[in-house]
Amino acid sequence: MIVVSLLILLAVGHIEAAPDPARGPELASPQASAEGYSNIRREDYVGPEECGSCHIENYENWKQHPHSRMNQLASPEAILGDFSGAYVDYGGRRAVFRRQDDDFYVDYFDGSKLLRRIHVTRVIGSRYEQDYVGVQVLGPEPATDPLYAEENRIRFSWSIDRHRWLPQSYMEPTEYPGSEYLPDGSLRHDPFVVERVPFNERCARCHNTYPYDMRLYRLFAEDGMVSGFAPGTLSRAVVASLAQEAGDWDRLTAERLPPERFVTVGISCESCHFGGREHAVDGTTPIRFVPTHPLLAGWAPDHKGARGNPIVINSICRQCHHSGVGAPDNWPDGSASVNSMEAIEQDHGACAGAIRCTMCHNTHIAGPRAGAADRPEHIAACVECHADLRVEAKARAHSHHDGGTTSCLDCHMPRIVQGFTGYNRSHRISSPGEPEILATGMPNACNLCHLDRSLAWTQKELALGWGTRVVLPQALAPLFGDDLERPAGAAWLQHPVPMVRTVAAGAYARSPLGRAALPQITDHLGEPNAYVRMRFLLAVEQIIGRQLREEEYSLTGPTQRRRPQVGALGGHLPNLK
Ligand code: HEC
Ligand code: HEC
Ligand code: HEC
Ligand code: HEC
Ligand code: HEC
Ligand code: HEC
Ligand code: HEC
Ligand code: HEC
Repeated sequence: MIVVSLLILLAVGHIEAAPDPARGPELASPQASAEGYSNIRREDYVGPEECGSCHIENYENWKQHPHSRMNQLASPEAILGDFSGAYVDYGGRRAVFRRQDDDFYVDYFDGSKLLRRIHVTRVIGSRYEQDYVGVQVLGPEPATDPLYAEENRIRFSWSIDRHRWLPQSYMEPTEYPGSEYLPDGSLRHDPFVVERVPFNERCARCHNTYPYDMRLYRLFAEDGMVSGFAPGTLSRAVVASLAQEAGDWDRLTAERLPPERFVTVGISCESCHFGGREHAVDGTTPIRFVPTHPLLAGWAPDHKGARGNPIVINSICRQCHHSGVGAPDNWPDGSASVNSMEAIEQDHGACAGAIRCTMCHNTHIAGPRAGAADRPEHIAACVECHADLRVEAKARAHSHHDGGTTSCLDCHMPRIVQGFTGYNRSHRISSPGEPEILATGMPNACNLCHLDRSLAWTQKELALGWGTRVVLPQALAPLFGDDLERPAGAAWLQHPVPMVRTVAAGAYARSPLGRAALPQITDHLGEPNAYVRMRFLLAVEQIIGRQLREEEYSLTGPTQRRRPQVGALGGHLPNLK
């Protein structure tokens, strides 16, 4: 009770110390709610162990979920990469990864000359790829350089699946476009050049738990989506009042998150449940699924019944599952080119407004890896709302396919999103007949399986089977054939947009048609962009069922070594087991 009245006092006190109105539109008149409940300030957060003292099962499940391990401090338990002196030779230099007691270092060498030494302080990721953050301890810069104090991302990552170190340009789909080498033979994206992007400027915003007020402070910044809730609806003045009340004026414009405000390193209960202080006292004050504070009265949806409200639930997830929303290479229909934009994709989809993330994902229990077979709960979610298709015969009549080979998700959530190792399903639930899909020539659900059929064939079958008529523009002809009769898979493999080529490679890798297409796919192992080449390698390996050896194909080696290898592989790979 004491705490409650104190908050009201703070809120009232704030009106007198109003910020300069010149800084924004007119000042909100904060209406201190009678209850004074707050779950957005640092002091409102109690940490997962406290929650776990009553919710034992949720706590145990969460401990196994990648959310809990997203970011960790560097420790022997957290580190998955090989730091036993393993190294990568790349672009004429060498990165060595080594351990000294419980400290982990990355050394960069040019021949025998030590160029830099970085002390690893944090790790990011635990499932597909682990990234590292560190502080430089040795380097050519003078001792006053911020590099010796700040935590920056290291530009080599550990591929958990391949069990090897790789420059990030091999793993990251959008940040490293263009050919790997410049015409003069130097690297376009040189991983040995340190990156001055401090970890707490970007990565930390989606990978840690910190108080919600700091998310609101970012509402008007470029990444304003971190609040999860619709940005346009909260006035600048209210956000300013929040900052003013907490003495956080400078935080309104700060790019960096202060690590001392973190609730946990990693994503814990209160990233989704907001500060649980009042609830955690004895469990009698219900926890709220909406951000609440006297100054926010009238903004957030009503907390009663919020748990079943798709706006609320999706907003919680949208805080983080929104990256790349403005990326120029997203698909023309609004689907993501790269994963972790699921909430925004869902907003663009057919069922937006009704569907909730939690209908398919139990957010406490770790899911299977991306690429896994559909689970019954996914299909169940579709027919929970589209109830007419619940009866199998009806579903079959609708899809004209056997549900065992082709599911609702195959046609309505195609695999067109670049994941860490495979292709994730788009979370924009769509219809294969949408003009934004078929008429733009982007990969469509039908031809991602029927790779040997043309766009014209799909157009015809959509009309025959579903009565859907799509007009295909003649502008597609140069790639898809004069009568649009060229097999779509072959056309996509040669598409000028790299992402289309890689999505097609992924489709062949899953398809019985993959083996016959090996010669064409293998040709792309000579692609000049590192990421694209990596993706074609994954496709080839998935088709032949094993990894290629360094003598067969040097992924990171110089182009001259690779060129003859690619030529040799093309001839004999189809016979390889
Ligand atoms: C002292 C024990 C206790 C602690 C600590 C505790 N809870 Fe609870 N919690 C309960 C009880 C009891 C209920 C059931 C109350 C009810 O159903 O009305 C509950 C219910 C919930 C619910 C379901 C609410 C709903 O509307 O369906 C959530 C979510 C929740 N707790 C999250 C948390 C989180 C997050 C924390 C840590 C910040 C936490 N709890 C800490 C006892 C506790
Ligand atoms: C806008 C939110 C957001 C930002 C900013 C962000 N990430 Fe992520 N990150 C995600 C989401 C969401 C996922 C999960 C994607 C998935 O599983 O499909 C993810 C996954 C990852 C993974 C994969 C982990 C694993 O277990 O395999 C790594 C590594 C990673 N991010 C690194 C980074 C780094 C480094 C930065 C900063 C440069 C960063 N991320 C910035 C949201 C973000
Ligand atoms: C990634 C987001 C997220 C995290 C992290 C998370 N929860 Fe939840 N939790 C939810 C959502 C969303 C619901 C509502 C699910 C629904 O209604 O289907 C929920 C429901 C609950 C419930 C009520 C239903 C149930 O499953 O028992 C409890 C209790 C709960 N959470 C406790 C916790 C605790 C304790 C932690 C940390 C150990 C935690 N949650 C971590 C998102 C999260
Ligand atoms: C604080 C940021 C944040 C919030 C909030 C958040 N996530 Fe995540 N989520 C991530 C990151 C980062 C990863 C990547 C973890 C990894 O790969 O190690 C991830 C991974 C996932 C995964 C893949 C892991 C698995 O085992 O299934 C799913 C599914 C997921 N989140 C769903 C949700 C849902 C649903 C919600 C809302 C209830 C939610 N997340 C809220 C950041 C967040
Ligand atoms: C929470 C309820 C809900 C769930 C779950 C749901 N939908 Fe929907 N869906 C809707 C609503 C509402 C609409 C828009 C109204 C309409 O046209 O029926 C819609 C529209 C659609 C449309 C487009 C209709 C058109 O005319 O363009 C398709 C296709 C679709 N849903 C497929 C699916 C599939 C596949 C799933 C499972 C992956 C699914 N839906 C899950 C509620 C839902
Ligand atoms: C073989 C592909 C395929 C499968 C499998 C499939 N659909 Fe469809 N679905 C379509 C096509 C094509 C349309 C028509 C699209 C259009 O007119 O734009 C459609 C339309 C819809 C619509 C819009 C309303 C309607 O009936 O026209 C809904 C809802 C829908 N599907 C839900 C589902 C659900 C739920 C499942 C799983 C039980 C499913 N679909 C399985 C191809 C498929
Ligand atoms: C209709 C069911 C459905 C809904 C609703 C749904 N998802 Fe998914 N989600 C899936 C399926 C199926 C996969 C597995 C896709 C794959 O294999 O690539 C998946 C995969 C993911 C992944 C990647 C997992 C990984 O291992 O990398 C993340 C992250 C994710 N979903 C987040 C979300 C978020 C956030 C929401 C709400 C905005 C959401 N999902 C809503 C069905 C759903
Ligand atoms: C997940 C892969 C998959 C997707 C997506 C898919 N199909 Fe099929 N399709 C198959 C398979 C496998 C068969 C043969 C077995 C069967 O009928 O289930 C088939 C058979 C067919 C046939 C009959 C045989 C033939 O080749 O003439 C037609 C026509 C067809 N599909 C059209 C479509 C159309 C149109 C779409 C998009 C709306 C579509 N398919 C989506 C896998 C798929």
